[in-house]
Amino acid sequence: MKNSPFELQTRTLPPTDENLKTAARLIQAGQVVGMPTETVYGLAGDALNPDALARIFSVKERPTFDPLILHIAMFSPFQKNPIAALESLQLIRTDELSELARVRAQALMLAFWPGPMTLVLPKHPHVPDLATAGLKTVALRMPRHPIAQALLDRAGTPLAAPSANRFGRISPTRPEHVVSELSGRIECIIDGGPCEIGVESTVVQIDPSGNLILLRPGGVSVAELEQAAETSIKTAPVLRNTEAQNSPGMLESHYAPLKSLLILPAPLAEMSSEQVAEFFKQPMFKSKTVGMLLLMGSADTAAARIKEASGFEVFVRSLSPSRNLEEVAHYLFSELRELDQSSAQILVAEPCSFRDAKAGLGFAISDRLHRASISPERFS
Ligand code: TXA
Ligand code: MG
Repeated sequence: MKNSPFELQTRTLPPTDENLKTAARLIQAGQVVGMPTETVYGLAGDALNPDALARIFSVKERPTFDPLILHIAMFSPFQKNPIAALESLQLIRTDELSELARVRAQALMLAFWPGPMTLVLPKHPHVPDLATAGLKTVALRMPRHPIAQALLDRAGTPLAAPSANRFGRISPTRPEHVVSELSGRIECIIDGGPCEIGVESTVVQIDPSGNLILLRPGGVSVAELEQAAETSIKTAPVLRNTEAQNSPGMLESHYAPLKSLLILPAPLAEMSSEQVAEFFKQPMFKSKTVGMLLLMGSADTAAARIKEASGFEVFVRSLSPSRNLEEVAHYLFSELRELDQSSAQILVAEPCSFRDAKAGLGFAISDRLHRASISPERFS
């Protein structure tokens, strides 16, 4: 029973000292557990134990070409010299890094750790190849969630922790989401309630000469990164699903609901009544129950507007009636999941406004929505 990852009695445990000890013991024995972080829930296992890493991939049904993020504890030598501290933990090697790369890496670590930023740096040979999918780089993040830190502390090892969903599906932001994704496959989930941020960490790579490349927008904005590193950041191109991957989080289709999700051509408030009518006239909506994710504003007003313009009854959920981008991020995945499980047969989401999509969290929200959606041309 213990050896099968698919027949376990998954328990959701409050974050007591005793339960954290139990989770840490499971981790030390090569098992994997659900762990809250400030971004999304992670599926955590000992990053230095190849058996635990293999279990993460099998529980998630994740292909082994997709590398993991190693989560590290806050430790005191870190404050003085983070690079040297990571090197002494045998996680990174810096002999190939230019002075500029070191300075920039250090500036980012001191500015955003603990917090929702993942840095990709040259890997130390001590880190198992399975953790990094054979890449010569390793992704590191120091989460700021107190429960994640407490678990890291007790486990006494870096924790590899991908988002605790099955591969390609919506990331979990509440313990019950982890249950619905992985029940029977893991022993326990430490209950940290809803995750504060709601979208994953920003992944940024530092190449040996010190260039910064954004691999995934997330909880820390590009502007914040640029300011701390005192340089501009290049954005890695979005890759087709079939292309060779630098960072599979850049896969075009990811975070997908089971139902088809279409994105409106513009935020609802910016669309004319004719445009609204034309959108809902498309054949894929014919005799379908439509569920809509409104990013901002009143759900009732939006539903009334759509009804008036197109005659269509749409069931609308608003992520932030008070129009707050942080609230949009916080509820994005959980509301998408709700709609996916509702009686709606097809889903529609509002895009971020052009201004929001360019900056801060809006970039991450926009990125996740785009990846969760299909374009009308691809509809079949
Ligand atoms: O917020 C987060 O980062 C969450 C929480 C649990 O910490 N974790 C998370 O992990 O989102 P995951 O596995 O779902 O996403 C990891 C991302 C993927 O896009 C992966 O391709 C990228 O990090 N990645 C990991 N190692 C990499 C490497 N060596 N080079 C490039 N990209 C890497
Ligand atoms: Mg993920």
